[in-house]
Amino acid sequence: KRPVGAPSSALARPVTKVGIVGAGLMASQLALLFARRLEVPVVLTDLDQTRVDKGVAYVLAEIEKSVQKGRLSEGKAAKLRGLVSGSVDKSAFADADFVIEAVFENLDVKKQVWAELEKIVREDCVLATNTSSLSVTAMAAELAHPERVVGFHFFNPVAVLPLLEIVRGTRTDDATLATAFAVGKALKKSSVLVKDAPAFVVNRLLTRFQGEVFRAIDAGTPVEVADSAFDPLGLPMRPLALLQLVGPAVGLHVAETLHEAFPDRFGVSANLARIVAEGKTGFYDADGAIDPDVVALLQVG
Ligand code: 3HC
Repeated sequence: KRPVGAPSSALARPVTKVGIVGAGLMASQLALLFARRLEVPVVLTDLDQTRVDKGVAYVLAEIEKSVQKGRLSEGKAAKLRGLVSGSVDKSAFADADFVIEAVFENLDVKKQVWAELEKIVREDCVLATNTSSLSVTAMAAELAHPERVVGFHFFNPVAVLPLLEIVRGTRTDDATLATAFAVGKALKKSSVLVKDAPAFVVNRLLTRFQGEVFRAIDAGTPVEVADSAFDPLGLPMRPLALLQLVGPAVGLHVAETLHEAFPDRFGVSANLARIVAEGKTGFYDADGAIDPDVVALLQVG
């Protein structure tokens, strides 16, 4: 069944090589998923060789884990290892049909990435962005070919969560959108078309949910109490565990984007901002208890 809003799959262009810009948490998970499901060469790039090597090492380690668990035969693992490569040189994207970026969440940074890439890739290469909250239309605005830009928003952990938000910018054409849906299907994800609106759909809901947890903390509710208040709902993770998984800095960025767009509906917790400013990347200590250093940073009341 064709997903709501998806153009005819007959318009989709074949994808025989994929480029990934960035080699961080999401990007390296994407590299593995694309190679595993599409069975085409996937090239990871980043600003320096250290980051590229780290991304490739993550992919190789995950392949090894699957072999150990008996989920991947040695033959398939060897093929998969051969499909994923890393390079700091983006000219490796010259013959790619689909490039996805998962770099730092900043509109100017992303625009710069696309402007640079447009000089390298073919005119019909799809440029997809894994942005969590930024405008796909704004990202494409200054490109020579904005019609091939599309939002392609995954959820962490990418290998496990089935949802994919596909975002149509104002100028995205049907062939690009059809290709995005075809790729989503090949990746075995459930694709939904969402409007190009701040934080799309899922992150808007999550930010509201996490925002209420911080509102309670800001007002003096002990962190453990606020974090466990939703346990009876049976969610797979506590709110702060989820925020730790996606990264407090990413969560803060989404909250700021939503606050800017809808100041009456979304706030930005000063405590969350302080935790991020102090460089904290999580809320728990090694034993899984709330990190006392995080508690020490809180200003309540
Ligand atoms: N990479 C690959 N596989 C992973 C993984 C990872 N990082 N984390 C967990 N898995 C796999 C495990 O290998 C395991 O697979 P198996 O059953 O086939 O062996 C399966 O997931 C279940 O893992 P566990 O048994 O270790 O743990 P749980 O059952 O507690 O599940 C979870 C872990 C899947 C992370 C679950 O807690 C969950 O779904 N949490 C909610 C995550 C969520 O909501 N993410 C969305 C965040 S928002 C976002 O990403 C958007 C961005 O823009 C901010």
